[in-house]
Parts: sequence; C-alpha cells; structure tokens
Amino acid sequence: MKAYRAAILRFAPDRSAIYEEDGLLVVGPNSQGTQVVQAVGAYRTVVQDFPGLAIEHLPGRILAPGFVDMHIHYPQTDIIGSPADGLLPWLENYTFPAEKRFVAPEYAAEVARFFIAELLRNGVTSALAFATSHPSSVNALFAEAQQQRLRLITGKVLQDQNSPDGVRDETEQSLLDTEALIQRWHGVDRLGYAITPRFVPTSSAAQLRGAGELAARYPDVWVQSHVAENLGEIAWVRDLYPDARSYLSVYEDFGLLRPRAVYAHCIHFDDTDRALMRDSGTVAAISPTSNLFLGSGFFDYEGADRIGFGYGLASDVGGGTSFSPFHTMRAAYYVGREGQTKPGLSLNPQNLWWQHTAGAAQALGLGGVVGNLAVGCEADFLVLNPQATPLLARKTARAQSLDELLFSLIILADDRAVERTVISQAQ
Ligand code: GUN
Ligand code: ZN
Repeated sequence: MKAYRAAILRFAPDRSAIYEEDGLLVVGPNSQGTQVVQAVGAYRTVVQDFPGLAIEHLPGRILAPGFVDMHIHYPQTDIIGSPADGLLPWLENYTFPAEKRFVAPEYAAEVARFFIAELLRNGVTSALAFATSHPSSVNALFAEAQQQRLRLITGKVLQDQNSPDGVRDETEQSLLDTEALIQRWHGVDRLGYAITPRFVPTSSAAQLRGAGELAARYPDVWVQSHVAENLGEIAWVRDLYPDARSYLSVYEDFGLLRPRAVYAHCIHFDDTDRALMRDSGTVAAISPTSNLFLGSGFFDYEGADRIGFGYGLASDVGGGTSFSPFHTMRAAYYVGREGQTKPGLSLNPQNLWWQHTAGAAQALGLGGVVGNLAVGCEADFLVLNPQATPLLARKTARAQSLDELLFSLIILADDRAVERTVISQAQ
C-alpha cells in the first residue's frame, strides 16, 4: 500500500466534482492483486486509518483520475492536421493511404509504441481505439497496451466495399479474423475487444449482418463505428439504404445498437434517433476537435440530455487535432456554446471534466472500474501541476472557486500540466 497527499479531484454519482484541498489517496492491491483505490478523502481523517503508511507528499499538485478517450484511431497518428474539403476527401486522400501501411507488422508495432506513449504522456489511461483492417495492426496495439498496462479496447476494422486496395478486406475472412481476435485478446489483463465496422458505406450488408451476429454472440464485447458525422456521408447512406428511416436505423437493422456499442460523432440526429440511442443503450463518443477540424458540425448536448442517451468525450485523432484531453474539453466547450445551428449551452467545467473521465467510463460500461478515484476504482491517476506554465500559474493562483480553477486548466493546460501518469499495476 502507498498513499499520496495532495489536492484531489474526483466525481460524485450526480456528475459533480468533489475537491479536497488537502487530500489523501491510498492505493493498494485488491483480491486479484490489481492496484485500486483503498481510501480517499481529507488527509486529516483518512490518515488516521493508516498509521505508519508511506506517504508521498506532493504540495501544490492535484491528483485527478486518468482520462478516458472514447474514440481514437492509432493508425492516424501521423495524419493529424491534414486538411481536406470534409470527411470523404479526407478519408480518400489521407486516411486510407496511411492505413495501408499497417499491413507491415513492424511498422504497426512502431506506431503502436509511439501512440501509447503519447496517450500516457497526455494523461489518457483508458482508450477505445480503431486499428486498421489488418489483423496484425490489432495484435501490435494490444501487445503494446498489455506491456504498458493501458486499459485498451480495440478491434480490426471491417471494410469490404467502397475502399481501395490495401485496406479493403474480404467479407467472410473479416468475420473469421474478428472472432479469432476476440478469443485471443478480449478480457486478457486490461484489454477488451470491439467489433469495428468502419461505417455503413464501407461495409456490405453481409458484413454488417455478420458483425451484428457476432455482437449478439459476444455481449460483453464492445461495438464501435461512426454515424451521422457529415452531410455528404449521410447522403451516401441514403443512396445505399433508401428505405431506412435514418442512418442510425441502418445499424439497428443489423443488430449493431446495444449496450457497449459506441458511435463516434452522432451530430446530425433527430429526436427519433436520440430515443433509439437511449432505448438501445447505445452511447455517443463526442469528438469536438475532429468535428471542428473537418467542418462536420456541432454535437447537440441539449438534444442528448433532453432525450437522455449516454455520451463521453473523444479525441478522434487523426481527424481530431490533439491527444490532449485539455484540448478536447476546450473544444467541447466551444461546440456546446455554439448556438446558431442548435441550442447553445455554456457547459460547466465540472461537467466537461466528467465527460472525459467518470462519464466516459460509465458510457463504456466501465463505471466504478476506471475514470474516477472512488474506492475500488483501478488506481489510474494523474499528478497535475497547475503552475506548469507562467500563464497557468498566474491564472490558477487567482481562482476563487473550483469552477474557476477547473476552467483555467481546461482553457490553458495541455500535456505540460501532466507531471506524472500513474497506471494501476498488477501484483
Ligand atoms: N468515418 C469513417 N471512417 C472515419 C475515420 O477514420 N474518421 C472519421 N472522423 N470519420 C470516419
Ligand atoms: Zn473516428
């Protein structure tokens, strides 16, 4: 067992933040030998229950839950900041050529190493990631995540049509490969598998049907895809499925909406789509830097909360522009605030932070496991330095409330504020 004394940020079940100015976080093994939070609260009270315990004192620092990134593409690490006239040309000109290279296992392993180091450097300790259509790309990412003990969920991309040579897969083999990868990796250490149809236009009906059958057969495996991101994409889906009620309903028809199904974007929805998300237990991975960069649109928080479906935040690198959860929370504020195309809300900073930690974990079905510093949670946490830059130091020193402190960090912080990322170790 070990304890850390510093300010501590965590979240209550009602999504509000709990902040201890002088807190104590005690971590130690659970019955399986995994390091979890054993106790947390005011230093003065918690310390009395642990006489003689080794305490690391971190004055001026904030302990916060490791961030949870609900949607990111590891093979797109090298195409961040590639401009295009929207999603479809960006896929064709940058994404597919970049993803072709992952047929080579050594290349995939090199990018996987960089990618996971970059996540950790930015304070991300759990992620739901796309690999490519090559099974070797999945093996490379799982192997590296296992070594670094990141809580990582990924899967082989399914794309058997409307895709160039080099990334297009073959329907039957793609489903056999998916099942073999589930059996090899799902539930091993901190790893999980996600059945990963890229999006409706790039999968045949047979491939989507097969993915839905696997999703029914393996209910604790995740499903991930994209939906309602861009108007050109939506028009394409309407051409392919003219009788479908909406883009989202195509996934419903193939059995791909269920708890643990996570759809990136969810921008161009109506209330029937929102109710379908809620009623099927499907959740949204909101990807604001990507949506701003590719000009896709603005996620409607008011609509999501009015109807009541689950969501959390995601970087969506390489459509997204940063690995930093601070950048993503900042962009989520801009997206929420936009009030010309949908209701504009001023999201409070506790809520923004919750969306990238406890909220994202809950949306993934991992509430109480990661994303918080409650007793029993896996001990993934960050040591944040609110004085990491001159402006951050000046601004946080003047904060009069928790909201002012958190807003200063959301607006001004980046990887420089993440002094240390601590990952839950196994005994
Ligand atoms: N839709 C289908 N594939 C992709 C992708 O790689 N990135 C984004 N942002 N949208 C997609
Ligand atoms: Zn994506």
